[in-house]
Amino acid sequence: MKLCMIGTGYVGLVSGVCFSDLGNDVICVDKDKNKILLLQNGKIPIYEPGLTELMVKNYKNKKLKFSNDLKKSVKESDIIFICVGTPTKKKSISADLRQVYNAVKEVAKSINKFKIIVTKSTVPVTTGDKIEKILSKKNNKNKFSVVSNPEFLREGEAIRDFIYPDRIVVGSNDKKSSKILKNLYNPLISKGAQFLLTQRRAAELIKYASNSFLATKITFINELANLCEKTNINIEDISIGIGLDKRIGGRFLRAGPAYGGSCFPKDTKAIISTANKFKANLSLVKSVIKSNNNRSKLLLNRVSDILNKKIKNKKITFLGVTFKANTDDMRDSSSLIMIPFLSKKGAIIKYYDPTGEKKELNKIKNVSYENSIKKAVKNSDLVILHTEWNDFKSINFKNLSKKKKFIIYDMRNIYSPEKINKQGLKYFSIGR
Ligand code: UGA
Repeated sequence: MKLCMIGTGYVGLVSGVCFSDLGNDVICVDKDKNKILLLQNGKIPIYEPGLTELMVKNYKNKKLKFSNDLKKSVKESDIIFICVGTPTKKKSISADLRQVYNAVKEVAKSINKFKIIVTKSTVPVTTGDKIEKILSKKNNKNKFSVVSNPEFLREGEAIRDFIYPDRIVVGSNDKKSSKILKNLYNPLISKGAQFLLTQRRAAELIKYASNSFLATKITFINELANLCEKTNINIEDISIGIGLDKRIGGRFLRAGPAYGGSCFPKDTKAIISTANKFKANLSLVKSVIKSNNNRSKLLLNRVSDILNKKIKNKKITFLGVTFKANTDDMRDSSSLIMIPFLSKKGAIIKYYDPTGEKKELNKIKNVSYENSIKKAVKNSDLVILHTEWNDFKSINFKNLSKKKKFIIYDMRNIYSPEKINKQGLKYFSIGR
C-alpha cells in the first residue's frame, strides 16, 4: 500500500519506518526542513533503540521516503496517517488540536482520488467528526473516509510494541476502509495481534482510557508504597502478590517517582476536559492527577529526612534524569521538579544521564552535567537513582565510595538493600 505519514515525531517516524519494513511504500512528511534533511542523511532526531538501523535499511531499499511536500505526498498515497502532536493547551487542560486541523486543511486540498485519512495522533472524542466536516467542505463525501487508529507504542520499546502489539484498534464507520486497514495490519494479525474493529469515537476514547488506566495503576502502587514505608512491608511483594491475579496483571505495578513523559500527564488532563465538556465526572482520574502531582513533593520530603533536613551545601547526584529509561525525553520528568527544588534549597547537584547533557537543566543554579557515573558520584553526599537504565544496574558502589561514603536513594528499587548495606553504604528505596 502507499502510505503517507504526516508528522515525523515519535508516532509518525516509528510507524512509518515499521510500515515500510512490512513492505509498504511510505512517505514521511514534515514541515521542518532540517528534520527531513537529517532523516534523508540517515539520522534520527530522537533516541529510540533500533530505529536508525531499520530506517536506513528501508530508505536504501526505497520503501521509505522523506519529504516536505505534503500535497504531492498525499496525492501519491492511498492512506494518510495524521501523526502530529496534540500537546496540552497553554493555561488549560484540553488538547491543542491546531496541528491536526492544519494538516487536515492541507490534505483537503490534495484529495485527487479515494483516500483514507487516519488519526494516529491521540485526539479527543469527536475529533474524527470534525475532520470529516473540514474535508467535506472541499471534497465529495465518497472521496474520503476518516478512521481512528490510535497508537500504543512506548518510548524506548517502540519497535517491539509496533511489531508485537497486544491489540490493534481501528475505529471506522465505513466497511470499505475497515477492510483496507485490516489488510494493512494483516502481517501483524497473522503473528497473533488482536484486531479490534469499533466505532470511530470508541477508538478515540480507548486511547485515552488506556493511558488513564495505566496512570491509575501506577498511582495506586505508588500510594501503596507510601503505606508500605510506614508499615515495614516490601512493596515489591505487594506488586507480585496482587499482579499474579490475572484480573489485575503484574505489569505497570512498579512503584517509583511520579509518572511522567509526553503522554500520561497530557492524556489524563485531556480526558477530564472531554468529560467536562460532556458533563461527566471522572473523579478517579482527577485524583490520580492530584496524587501524581503530590508525589514529587513527597519524595523530596524523604530526601530532606534522609539528609537530616540539611539540604544546604549538600552534594547530590542524580543518576538518570529522563522520565524513564531508554529514552532521551525529558518531558514531564519528575527530575524537572526535584532538581530545581533542591537547587533552590542550596544543594550542589551533579547528574549523569546515558543520553547526555540536558538543555532543560542548563540554567539551574549549581547544577552540572558529568559525562561518567564515576565523575558524577565523586564526593557526593547523596546519590539519587532516578531512572532505571541498565547501565546503572551493575554499578560497583564499593569501588566508587572508597574515598567518601555516600547515601543511596534508589527511586526505582533496582538494587538489593542487603547487598548495598553489605558494602557499608546507607540505602533507601521506595516502599520497602
Ligand atoms: C505510554 C503508554 O505506555 C503507551 O502505551 C502509549 O502509546 C504512550 O504512552 C503514548 O500515549 O504515546 P510512554 O509514555 O512511552 O508510553 O511510557 P511508559 O512506559 O508508559 O511510562 C510512563 C511513565 O510511567 C514513566 O514515567 C514510567 O517511569 C512510569 N511507570 C511505568 C512507572 O512508574 N511504573 C511502571 O510500572 C510503569
